[in-house]
Amino acid sequence: MTRFPIISAFVLLCGSNINAEAPCKLSPCITVDIYYESLCGDSMMFIRNELVPSYPALKDYLNINFVPYGKATTKLNESKKYSFTCQHGSTECQGNKAQVCGYDAILSSTKSFEEKQSLAVSLIGCVMSNNNPATAVPQCAETAGLSEETRKIIDDCIKSETGDALLAAYGDKTHDLKPSLAFVPTIVLDGVYSQENQTAAVSDFKKLICSRIPSESKPATCSN
Ligand SMILES: *[C@@H]1O[C@H](CO)[C@@H](O)[C@H](O)[C@H]1NC(C)=O
Ligand SMILES: *[C@@H]1O[C@H](CO)[C@@H](O)[C@H](O)[C@H]1NC(C)=O
Repeated sequence: MTRFPIISAFVLLCGSNINAEAPCKLSPCITVDIYYESLCGDSMMFIRNELVPSYPALKDYLNINFVPYGKATTKLNESKKYSFTCQHGSTECQGNKAQVCGYDAILSSTKSFEEKQSLAVSLIGCVMSNNNPATAVPQCAETAGLSEETRKIIDDCIKSETGDALLAAYGDKTHDLKPSLAFVPTIVLDGVYSQENQTAAVSDFKKLICSRIPSESKPATCSN
């Protein structure tokens, strides 16, 4: 398990245990890692058209991890300052950082797994449905119903080097992918990438998740 130390470092930095055992309400608990970037049209389409609409009826089976970094690179210079380059320019990097800040603020709160996940989907769903996902986090944090206190934490993070360090950790997780990230968004189910699952996820996410739930426990949404 050579991945373990990297995952542990990531968990520590994010201040929350993203790999907690079967956090879902119902079984099977399907872990869905979403590697995406803020200005990528395919990422916006996946989150807006696949994830958000299917989430309410399937949420009790989902353990979603957002990884807003995509095809970026990270540099740490001599004075220990991070800089990033992104596929769609520096605006995209700012957008990724803002989403990391928003997501981390939610994960670090004392809410239940279920509440945190629903808030994260609301926030990121709102951001990735916006005309300009790179700047939508503060506004969407309000729309998602985050408290003033949490929104202040997010705004501070967006302006801070703490936010850079967080983004770098999501970068580590992305660079650690095997095989390495080729397509954005990349959707990984239960920690195992496969082209077949990737294609199925982006074309019909609900169908893919439903296919993994045994027939005796399939929710009603799976027969629609
Ligand atoms: C390191 O990066 C920061 C932020 O990009 C920059 O302001 C600073 O001048 C850089 N320092 C060195 C030694 O390159
Ligand atoms: C799709 O993902 C699941 C993990 O939930 C895995 O068991 C299955 O083998 C994957 N399919 C392929 C073709 O790899």
